[in-house]
Amino acid sequence: MTNRVTIRDVARYADVSMSTVSQILNGKANRFSNDTRQKVLYARDALGYVPDFNARNLITNSVKTIGVIVPDIGNPFFSTFIKSIEFLAMEQNCISLILSSNDNQELERKHLEQLINRSIDGIIIASPSIGQAEIDNQLKKNRIPYLLIDQNPIADGDRVMTDDFNGAELAVNHLAQLGHRKIAMIMAKKPSDNLKRRFFGYKHALNSNGLEFDEKLVISTEMSKIGGMNAANKLIQTDATAVLTVNDEVAIGLYHGLNLLGKSVPDDYSVVGYDNIDLDEYLAPPLTSISQPIHELGATVFKKLIERIKNPDLPQTEIMLPVKLVKRNSTKKLS
Ligand code: RIB
Repeated sequence: MTNRVTIRDVARYADVSMSTVSQILNGKANRFSNDTRQKVLYARDALGYVPDFNARNLITNSVKTIGVIVPDIGNPFFSTFIKSIEFLAMEQNCISLILSSNDNQELERKHLEQLINRSIDGIIIASPSIGQAEIDNQLKKNRIPYLLIDQNPIADGDRVMTDDFNGAELAVNHLAQLGHRKIAMIMAKKPSDNLKRRFFGYKHALNSNGLEFDEKLVISTEMSKIGGMNAANKLIQTDATAVLTVNDEVAIGLYHGLNLLGKSVPDDYSVVGYDNIDLDEYLAPPLTSISQPIHELGATVFKKLIERIKNPDLPQTEIMLPVKLVKRNSTKKLS
């Protein structure tokens, strides 16, 4: 419970009704004597009363508040996704509360509690640790509309996904068409389910292209630029000539690590990233990547959540958005 000063406290202090306080503080002071007005304003200032947005919004129900929980707002995929949600929320007179947990699972659960305590109208969950227990005991119990995306693995609720399996297939097919036979994958340590689907797509595409799966060509690292840089040392110890990275930030770090080792992209290694973040154009060489439709994802997620808020009894939906290969200069024919 918060020790927040309430409108009841102000009314008691000023010795007037709550209705009088509400009307004076909400633009209808001219209905009351100057003496009453002064008593209410004095009480408000003496107690430090701040109107509770949610309490007022419950009366007017004019503005929806949407919560978004992501693993890492510092990651360009998530920051781009959040920008698309914020733009749409602003357009539709909604407020978006963005909470990033920096991949801290305990913090993700605390964020969920915080949002629920603020009578949020709906929640978008991209984080992996909010599981069935939280959905049953916090979201469903409080009848809070929610939508699951990306790293969240739960199938119980509306979902909007992108085709991770096919994304990895497109990358491997591209590298195989360039003549590469030894294709590595740099994977995230402790991958969420969507990232695992990329690994399964990688394996499937190796097989489809008549290439042998070699677990020595799968390198696990932190899903970060530093993780990519560190993976370079392991990559050069393999006989790979090409590599798919689990996301673009790992590819950016890999570039740096290979450079430090005197290796070049694409002459020594063809590299395909994943996400197609805007930085990819500006790398040397520009990065070939699998494009996740981040803005379309944001628009679809926001639209579906507002539909759910307006009609909680809609049937559950799952939408799969396609991905595509964006060729740039980080891949070349095997010489
Ligand atoms: O770059 C962050 C990655 O984690 C993206 O590929 C996104 O899909 C998330 O799962």
